[in-house]
Amino acid sequence: MDSVAATDTEQAVTAAFEPRIIAFVCNWCTYTGADLAGTSRIQMAPNVRIIRLPCTGRIDPLFIVKAFERGADGVIVSGCHPGDCHYSSGNFHARRRFAVAREIMGFFGIDTGRVVFSWVSASEGRKWSEVVNDATSQVRALGPFTAYRDLAAGKG
Ligand code: FES
Repeated sequence: MDSVAATDTEQAVTAAFEPRIIAFVCNWCTYTGADLAGTSRIQMAPNVRIIRLPCTGRIDPLFIVKAFERGADGVIVSGCHPGDCHYSSGNFHARRRFAVAREIMGFFGIDTGRVVFSWVSASEGRKWSEVVNDATSQVRALGPFTAYRDLAAGKG
């Protein structure tokens, strides 16, 4: 009887799950695109919290790990399209770093499906809303990220 009740509770928790997603975005393109989405009143999932950086070249892969450690269920990294970086090559550095970061996510116990990389320009408010909605659906399907909380609680 207890296991049936526990299962019902788990299903209720899963059904109510709304992912917390952190987006690391560059100031010049994606942040402005996200702002455009807001001022254009484009509907999108309310699950994303933005951290604005000067350029995606500033994003250290450990920022991503730290976001998960602090309770995120998913992370978006987004900046200017190739060739459009305001610091000329910051997004190329970010792309290379991100490719390596994806390879080591497994080592940190993080499913790569929880991390999304995209290019969104200042005029692509609609695209930003699609990135947000797609990332939210993808992470929702994966469920809550509890590995670090379980470790901290001694369950890992
Ligand atoms: Fe946008 Fe470099 S300024 S990625």
